[in-house]
Amino acid sequence: MDYVSKLLREGIQTKIIGSHIQYYETIGSTMDEVHVLARNGWSEGLVIVADNQLLGRGRKGTSWISEPGNLLLSILLKPDVKHLEVLQPMTAICVQKAVRAITDIDMNLKWPNDLIVRQTKVGGILLESSVKNDCLEYVVIGIGVNLMLSKKPHNPNYIVSDLSEFGAKTLDRSSLLREILSNLDSYYSKIDKPVEIFEEWKDQLDIIGQFVRFKSGEDVHKGEVISVGDNGSLELRVANGGIMNFTTGDIIEVYE
Ligand code: BTN
Repeated sequence: MDYVSKLLREGIQTKIIGSHIQYYETIGSTMDEVHVLARNGWSEGLVIVADNQLLGRGRKGTSWISEPGNLLLSILLKPDVKHLEVLQPMTAICVQKAVRAITDIDMNLKWPNDLIVRQTKVGGILLESSVKNDCLEYVVIGIGVNLMLSKKPHNPNYIVSDLSEFGAKTLDRSSLLREILSNLDSYYSKIDKPVEIFEEWKDQLDIIGQFVRFKSGEDVHKGEVISVGDNGSLELRVANGGIMNFTTGDIIEVYE
């Protein structure tokens, strides 16, 4: 029996997230499947889980190396547009809490949405939205958590690893998935208090006052992180004293 059937058999007590859960052994990308179903009128809360993806994707057009045994899922949401910015921070907190609850691993968050254990990236979150006639139609949130990778892909911006490296050799994927979906369900029900969610996320980032090397597009900036804005943007004081504000990009180094 696959781990999603196990989860469904044991039951899951959520109101919205996981209203319908579909499992694939292999799929192109769980993101694409949710887009298709969203266009066919599926309600929010739909979750697509796959054991393997042939065309998994990450942020900024990168590919997400997927192989059987990892956690790969996408969720359909139809939030109010004013809550769009809090969705990634919310998801990051929910995955972090779930991993901490199911394993002894101290997962941390890295701006903007990386899931980190001991300075290595073990997972990420991808948000795609569909806008029609200037209105937000729906959002797809993708979550990838590396549980065990046979080969660690090389990335110039960070070191990739998996939870098995940190002791989670026999992690129960059903329990982890249940915990993530339950957390998301409970945070999503509090989405009209986004400030509280942003504050919780900012507390976890532990980045204010740190000196970093930051990559935005092809440009690399060095500076001190002054703040993380209410919309999640990163404010950097660069060498000439100027302040720069970023909504996308990667912290590629933190100086001790
Ligand atoms: C990142 O670049 O950090 C985000 C990675 C998100 C990967 C997940 S895996 C499940 C879902 N399907 C995809 O194709 N991507 C997301």
